Amino acid sequence: MTVKRSTPEWLEEAVFYQIYPQSFCDSNGDGIGDINGIISKLDYVKKSGFNALWINPCFDSPFKDAGYDVRNYFKVAARYGTNEDIVRLFDEAHKRGIRVLLDLVPGHTSDKCRWFRQSALPARNRYSDRYIWTDSGWSCPQGYNWVTGNADRNGAYMLNFFLNQPALNYGFNKITDPNWQISYKDKRVKPTLNAMMKVIRFWLDRGADGFRVDMADSLVKNDPDKTATASLWRKVRAMLDRHYPEAVLVSEWCNAPVAVNKAGFHCDFLLNHRGKLTDLAFYRREGNKGTAYFCKSAHVSAREMLQLYLQELAETRGNGYMCPVSGNHDVERLSYFLDESERRVAFVFLLTLPGVPFVYYGDEIGMRYVAQQSKEGGFHRTGSRTPMQWDADLPNLGFSSANKLYLDVDRGADAPCVAQQMRDGGSLWNEVRTLAELRKARPDLHSDGEMTVVQCTDDGVLCYRRGESTFVALNPTDEERVLRVDVGGILFETGSFRRQNGQTLLAPQTAIIFEKQGE
Ligand code: GLC
Ligand code: CA
Repeated sequence: MTVKRSTPEWLEEAVFYQIYPQSFCDSNGDGIGDINGIISKLDYVKKSGFNALWINPCFDSPFKDAGYDVRNYFKVAARYGTNEDIVRLFDEAHKRGIRVLLDLVPGHTSDKCRWFRQSALPARNRYSDRYIWTDSGWSCPQGYNWVTGNADRNGAYMLNFFLNQPALNYGFNKITDPNWQISYKDKRVKPTLNAMMKVIRFWLDRGADGFRVDMADSLVKNDPDKTATASLWRKVRAMLDRHYPEAVLVSEWCNAPVAVNKAGFHCDFLLNHRGKLTDLAFYRREGNKGTAYFCKSAHVSAREMLQLYLQELAETRGNGYMCPVSGNHDVERLSYFLDESERRVAFVFLLTLPGVPFVYYGDEIGMRYVAQQSKEGGFHRTGSRTPMQWDADLPNLGFSSANKLYLDVDRGADAPCVAQQMRDGGSLWNEVRTLAELRKARPDLHSDGEMTVVQCTDDGVLCYRRGESTFVALNPTDEERVLRVDVGGILFETGSFRRQNGQTLLAPQTAIIFEKQGE
């Protein structure tokens, strides 16, 4: 079943900025970022060209997975502030034309959540079926992760991710053991989805503009083609269409034909999954060598990178958007894979693709991946979660006045910082800001505008038309290349190009955006 619905209009021009609240700005000097800190930087967000935010989980939590282990969905974590603070964040953001998505974690809670503590009691109660339990503490069937021996209830409970993240029970699609598996259609599991709808409505009623949805494909178990999981999300979408037509759900699924067409998400992330656009564009490596399209020495055609993407773009067009990302809190930063000259070309691509782009905080100034000891279940991800670098002349680069920080800032002498890049017209920040502004100002570059490839050659050149008359030409390689398309009026340029004997030559690592009537 495919849903055909219109998406909220504001997505057309949306350029998102992802904020990891722990690490953005500490307003009260306790060493950790907070909501008031985010509010104090909304002018920066706007000035940088962004008009929408996604904020990683900021709810009450024991923080065994940086907040993806929610203890209370209805309460802002004390370390970030109060519910009143976040309502003020919504208001202040809206005043500046900025939308705010929160992070919904529907697949699991913390094992310290009240629902789970009730569920773990031996006596039957209204939460007994809220999580997935086997019918005996000795029974831990293969194919899932279980915890047993940790509660008085005679059963093992299923995990959705880490040890402290028990899976919420949305039922099973294919049932292999009726003694403890419940169908996703059974009324005993309906309260789980209802509870999640309540969470959604609670925050939308207070001014949130929607949610990024964590592990959105993980709800129904033994659901190989995800039809059952999709059917639950369609119910959520129907509720939104009815009561909150401006609200948006962005899924962590990385399969837009299913997430958008079948489950009814407005948007789906393009993550680093193998074969997906951002993997082939930014991340791919063989051994120590970068083989992604934007590695200057890779010299690969854009054909492979675009193949699946263009197919899925065609399949989902009109139903919702794919979201290319510069990175996120789960992967090494973009600067780990691409140097600055490579990223300058890559950002032109990211910000001129159809769909809704997301920039991870700090990527707009080229923050580094700082490998270090794991924090709050981050493991290798911790290096991408370090504090935002505001000003090289301030203590802790302007993130906090505390002596001891939640996570240390990049102490490198040349750590890139906002204040310094704002003063430098040629900085990466200025490039990202200019591109974001250009995108918003040109309907051709909006989320829904068409993308037509006009040159995609083995030498690495890619040129595409967006909408009616906007062209993007890329030469990510470290050699000069021939552009076979006549260049029109230049709208943006990084690198350079020249004309010689009737040919246009793109200098190494050049990206240009130009306008001319379509051909
Ligand atoms: C998602 C989040 C990640 C988290 C996991 C479990 O992948 O992005 O940070 O650890 O889900 O909730
Ligand atoms: Ca603080």
